[in-house]
Amino acid sequence: MDGNGRWAQARNLPRTEGHKAGEHSLFEVVDGCLEAGVEWLTVYAFSTENWRRPKDEVRFLINFNEEILLRRRDELNERGVRIRFIGRRDWRVPKRLIKRMDEASELTRHNRKLTFTIAFNYGGRAEIVDAVREIAASGVNPKKITEKTIAKHLYDAEMPDPDLVIRTSGEFRISNFLLWQLAYSELIFTDTPWPEFQREQLFAAIGDYQERERRFGGVDSGS
Ligand code: IPE
Ligand code: MG
Repeated sequence: MDGNGRWAQARNLPRTEGHKAGEHSLFEVVDGCLEAGVEWLTVYAFSTENWRRPKDEVRFLINFNEEILLRRRDELNERGVRIRFIGRRDWRVPKRLIKRMDEASELTRHNRKLTFTIAFNYGGRAEIVDAVREIAASGVNPKKITEKTIAKHLYDAEMPDPDLVIRTSGEFRISNFLLWQLAYSELIFTDTPWPEFQREQLFAAIGDYQERERRFGGVDSGS
């Protein structure tokens, strides 16, 4: 969900106004997924690198995430959305926010229409490091370690590899998002800043995805 700050700055607004405007986009995308039958949606809300931002912005993002969880959890629950989180739960994440995360996951855990995963204090490399630590601690024979072993130790072992990744706001980077999982994902980069990314843009991206031919390292299915 990139481009909030620049969207706001272009309007002479503080960066935090861009984050606020992004809430509408987020729920447009959730609605769009429910409508299109997308069953897994993962959003990058806060990275392990985002702590480097000015203190005020970090504080705003933490409070804003907490507030959204409180304000929107019932509505998400009623719509059949299962809320989950991936990321490191280290000392930097306030206990109160962790409590809200656990409450939202618990409240929605039986829902299956859409699994909506929020990556918070998430880093793809950190996730792989954490997986490797668990595997090493388990004392497994190194020869028995396969790709499946690593996948099983990621933050959410059930989450399928994404078919499609959309990055907004004209940046052409992965920025440490789901590094292991997106080995074969289709990537879409759009100039649209996150606050302007609505259902229509989501459907356009899905349409673009449907035109792509996925070979997973193999050859054309028709030839
Ligand atoms: C939101 O957009 C992403 C978050 C980390 C919350 P940005 O805050 O990265 O916006 P830009 O990239 O500065 O425009
Ligand atoms: Mg950014």
